[in-house]
Amino acid sequence: MKPQRISCVVGARPNFMKVAPVYLALRDRGLQVRLVHTGQHYDAKMSAVFFDDLGMPRPDAFLGVGSGSHAAQTAKIMTLFEQDCLQFQPELVLVAGDVNSTIACALVASKLGAAVGHIEAGLRSGDWAMPEEINRVLTDHASDLLLTPSPDADVNLAADGIAPWRIHFVGNCMIDSLRKHLARALEIGAWREHGLQPKEYAVATLHRPSNVDDPAQLAALLAGLGEVSAQLPVVFPVHPRTSARIAASGLAVPPGLQLVEPLGYLQFLGIMAQAAVVATDSGGMQEETTALGVPCLTLRANTERPITITEGTNTLLGTDPALLGPAVAEVLAGRGKGGRVPDRWDGRAAQRIADVVCAGFETLLERSTP
Ligand code: UD1
Repeated sequence: MKPQRISCVVGARPNFMKVAPVYLALRDRGLQVRLVHTGQHYDAKMSAVFFDDLGMPRPDAFLGVGSGSHAAQTAKIMTLFEQDCLQFQPELVLVAGDVNSTIACALVASKLGAAVGHIEAGLRSGDWAMPEEINRVLTDHASDLLLTPSPDADVNLAADGIAPWRIHFVGNCMIDSLRKHLARALEIGAWREHGLQPKEYAVATLHRPSNVDDPAQLAALLAGLGEVSAQLPVVFPVHPRTSARIAASGLAVPPGLQLVEPLGYLQFLGIMAQAAVVATDSGGMQEETTALGVPCLTLRANTERPITITEGTNTLLGTDPALLGPAVAEVLAGRGKGGRVPDRWDGRAAQRIADVVCAGFETLLERSTP
C-alpha cells in the first residue's frame, strides 16, 4: 500500500537540493505530493532561485515564517505547519537535514499521527552546542523512516536504539541534484563572470554562528582568507548572516578576497566544481566537494559527515584560521587530498527513497500499530 498523501517540507537553503529529487521521484510514481515551504529562508537569492535551478514547481504552500530566535522561528513553523497538515491530512511527512524547519515539522507531524520520514537521518557531530545537532537527534527520534546517506549514520542510529527495520541506507540525495545539474552548471560557467580561470581560484563560504557571530573569530577568519588570497584569487559568496556581521564589525576585507552576493545553485555548483580548493564551514559543501573530487578544508572542530574525510577529499582543519594559508599552500603544491565517491552517492538516492516509501509504507504502518 502506498501513502495516499505526502507532504515534502523545505525551509532553508540546504533543504532545496535534497528534497527536489525526492519530490520529483515521488510525483513520477503517481503519488499525491504537496510541497510545503516554511519560509525560513526567504531572500530570492537564498530561496526562489533554487526552485528555478532545480526544476521544482512553486510550493503548494508558503508559510512565510521568516527569521527569529530559535524558539520564535520553530514555534511559528509548528503553528503554521499544523494548520497545513490539518487541511491536507498527509499520511507521510518528509523532512530533510538539520535546520529548524526540519525538527519543527517532524514534531508537528508525529503528534498528528502522520508517519515521518527523515532524509539525511543519522548524522552526528557529537557537538551539542550546534543547534543543528539538537535538530538532528530530535528529528531522528520523532521519525518512522530513517533515510540515511552513509553507513556511519546507520551505526549512529543503532547506537541510539532505533529499530533496524526503520533504517534505510538510501544514499545521498544532495548528490542526486549535483549529478543531474553538473553539466548545465559547467556550461553556464559562472566563474567567468567573476574573472576567474578554472582550477586557479579558491572558493570560501562561512556562516556558522560559531565562526561569524564572535567578532574576534570573524576577524581571524578574514585574516586567514587574506593569507589565501595572497596565493590565488578567492571568491566568497556571503550568507546574509555573515554579511550582517562583517558590516557590523567594521572589519576591512583583505585585497584579493572577492565578496559576492549568495549565488544560485547552478552558478555556485559550476564555481565549486572548477575551484582549486574550497574553504568552508558548510555541511553540504563537504559532501559536494567529495563528489566533485575538489579538496575541501573545513573550518570546524568536528563534522557530522566523517565519510567525507575517511573516503572523500575533506580535511577537518579545526577552528584556527591561521592554519588556512599553509593548508592551501599544501594543496597548491599538489599535496591536496584525493578521495573516492562513497557508496550510493550515485544519483539514485531519491529513487531508493521512492522505493522505500512505496514498498515499505505498509510494513511501517503494521509495525507501528501497538
Ligand atoms: C540555517 C540553518 C543552518 C544552515 C543554514 C544554511 C538552522 C538552525 N540553521 O542557518 O543549519 O546551514 O541555514 O544557510 O536552521 N537571513 C536573511 N535572508 C534569508 C535567510 C536568513 O537575511 O533568506 C538572515 C536573517 O538575518 C537571519 C539570519 O540570516 O536572522 C540567519 O538565518 P536563519 O534561518 O536563522 O539561520 P541560518 O544562519 O541561515
